[in-house]
Amino acid sequence: MRRDDHHASHAGVARAELAEAPPAAEERDRSEIGALQALRERIAFLRGFVAHPEQVGSVIPSSHVLEQRLVRSARLLHARCLVELGPGTGGTTRAFLRAMPATAHLLAIELNEDFAARLRASIRDPRLTVVQGSAEFIDRFLTEHGLPAPDAVISGIPFSTMPREVADRIAAEIARVLAPGGRFVAYQVRPHVADYASPYLGQARREWEVINIPPVRVFTWTRGR
Ligand SMILES: C[S@@+](CC[C@H](N)C(=O)[O-])C[C@H]1O[C@@H](n2cnc3c(N)ncnc32)[C@H](O)[C@@H]1O
Repeated sequence: MRRDDHHASHAGVARAELAEAPPAAEERDRSEIGALQALRERIAFLRGFVAHPEQVGSVIPSSHVLEQRLVRSARLLHARCLVELGPGTGGTTRAFLRAMPATAHLLAIELNEDFAARLRASIRDPRLTVVQGSAEFIDRFLTEHGLPAPDAVISGIPFSTMPREVADRIAAEIARVLAPGGRFVAYQVRPHVADYASPYLGQARREWEVINIPPVRVFTWTRGR
């Protein structure tokens, strides 16, 4: 028996057992699996922070409340193409996919190799493309994957700790690739992103999300038509 067959037959047995289980037990099993996955992601995220604190910029993933604020700010219910910069271990990515239309595309660009590999292994969604690399090359990644101009870019990458020229290149790239009327939404502990993005995209709407550790600023720019 191949390894895959072995796993498939186990998965088949597990599915059959779940199908026969009473609804309450099934629900408990599901929430236990969800809790275990969330715990694993938190541990992986913390490890990523310890290895590269200036790139990861936070010790735990974003809260569900912040995820929903980002969904609304970027108008994801109507998005055709979203670029996510810095998906980390994928909590935000899953929330965005849940909100996006069935025909939409999400290009997730992640610098950290471990996070990118984890994303590829854990999220199976035909709408998702994961690229391991820097946000400096959004245009090239969109072209390589045959994707249209995004109507939203959402970014959690820490602009305050990256070299100024890299931050400026990323901001210029975002402004260049966004579709007319598209939105750039950045959630950040510190305000530096505005110094980089406003010269290209004008004034941002500024909000705070305090139900997050730590509380973050949420900036939303809308590109002119
Ligand atoms: C604050 S974490 C956000 C993780 C996740 N989206 C969340 O909200 O829980 C920032 C992420 O940006 C990634 N990152 C930092 N610089 C980057 C760059 N230049 N290009 C792409 N990703 C980058 C880090 O590896 C990290 O995963």
